[in-house]
Amino acid sequence: MIPKILIVDDEQNLRKVLSSLIKRLGFEPVEADNGFRALEECRTRQISTVITDLRMLGMDGLDLLRSLNRNFPHLPVIMLTAHGTIETAVSALKNGAFDYITKPFEQLEMKRIILNAINTFEANQKEYKPPFLHPDLKIIGKTSVMEAVFSLVKKVADSPSSVLIIGESGTGKELIAQALHNLSSRKDKPFIKVNCAAIPENLIESELFGYEKGAFTGALNSKPGRFELAHEGTIFLDEIGEIPLEMQVKLLRVLQEKEFDRIGGLKTIEVDIRLISATNSELEKKIQKGAFREDLFYRLNVVPIQLPPLRERKEDIPLLVNYFLDEFNKKLKRSVQRISPDIMEAFSLFYWPGNIRQLENVIERMVLLTPTDELTPDQLPQEIKSQIYTSMPEYRAKGLKEAVKETTHKMEKELILEALQETSGNVTQAARQLGISRKSLQLKMKEFDLREKL
Ligand SMILES: Nc1ncnc2c1ncn2[C@@H]1O[C@H](COP(=O)(O)OP(=O)(O)OP(=O)(O)O)[C@@H](O)[C@H]1O
Ligand SMILES: [Mg+2]
Repeated sequence: MIPKILIVDDEQNLRKVLSSLIKRLGFEPVEADNGFRALEECRTRQISTVITDLRMLGMDGLDLLRSLNRNFPHLPVIMLTAHGTIETAVSALKNGAFDYITKPFEQLEMKRIILNAINTFEANQKEYKPPFLHPDLKIIGKTSVMEAVFSLVKKVADSPSSVLIIGESGTGKELIAQALHNLSSRKDKPFIKVNCAAIPENLIESELFGYEKGAFTGALNSKPGRFELAHEGTIFLDEIGEIPLEMQVKLLRVLQEKEFDRIGGLKTIEVDIRLISATNSELEKKIQKGAFREDLFYRLNVVPIQLPPLRERKEDIPLLVNYFLDEFNKKLKRSVQRISPDIMEAFSLFYWPGNIRQLENVIERMVLLTPTDELTPDQLPQEIKSQIYTSMPEYRAKGLKEAVKETTHKMEKELILEALQETSGNVTQAARQLGISRKSLQLKMKEFDLREKL
């Protein structure tokens, strides 16, 4: 992949000049006109070096530098300073800048510094950043959002604190729950999974806490519940938002007292468990509506782990695609070649409502169904193709790339409009509903010319 260099400056002209210089050096420029947008770019794309102006409106260059150093410690930051402000440049260096350059700059000098920065970054990458959470756990990601998730997972895996994993469907919640268990000292004890949405309401209590013989009609034998089975291990309550209110009260009690009774049981059972739960982003809505207890939420949410949707970590797509391609070649005894750039482009522009699971399924189907060892854009699955083909019959004239881009924009705009309408124009709520940050929603709204209040 071509290294990306982020240029941060509020002067459009300077960004243009730098962009073309960076292109000539064989790198890909990315532009940001302010510090906030710069941070957002670093979070969602894989940036190799940042060049930032010192004096900017809003967040100035030094603030940005501090924030970048905190969030992306290995990312080199080059400061641009006006002539005669060497002191500021020196203080930037003291604050962790990689280097500085004075305006107007010499192209050769700029080139030398950029190459230096990229080399340093790449050397660091090799040292610090395998694209997996752990060599034994094939959880893939190298975007900074995922890096942050990985380091949080490692940090809290062996602590007893309750973890709440939040993410859209297919973002890897179960995978992360299992990783938390496997990386903890409980790893040789049970990992018990409960899908709260799959158990009928009247059976939840007996599933979780067990029952004694004769506790109710049909209780022919006594049976331990999942909490008992998870003793000394981890219990994973998936789709926790689906637990009925009445059970929430009981669950809260168990979490507070770490003991419970089987249904119809006489002796109190004590358990030592690590609790992990997972939910889609709907939980806070449920609390507002009174369908989920706030006190229980706080118990569950000691450490929140937020998994980003795939569309917010698009630069992980090639890694994931190649990983799944290898997997399915092995599993289906095929030898499909790497995917063409056209398809990769379509993948990176698609909205992926089903996230990684959807990507995984798409690759499996394509590998299974291709008559040759090649994958061509024609074999794109219906859900991606129908977006591109039906809404844009002229796609051939325009080229796939353009067509996909337009369609994705159209879809994104529609989804955003829908969310805004549903939340009566409340940006914070709409962003939450869409599973993106408030800031990125605002940027999108600007891009699509949507006003804050409808
Ligand atoms: N970072 C990742 N690297 C590799 N595979 C992943 C990653 N994240 C998810 N997957 C794969 O994607 C699929 C979906 O993951 P998982 O079941 O953990 O998601 P989920 O968030 O629990 O989904 P749901 O909400 O639908 O239950 C799984 O097959 C999983 O192995
Ligand atoms: Mg799941």
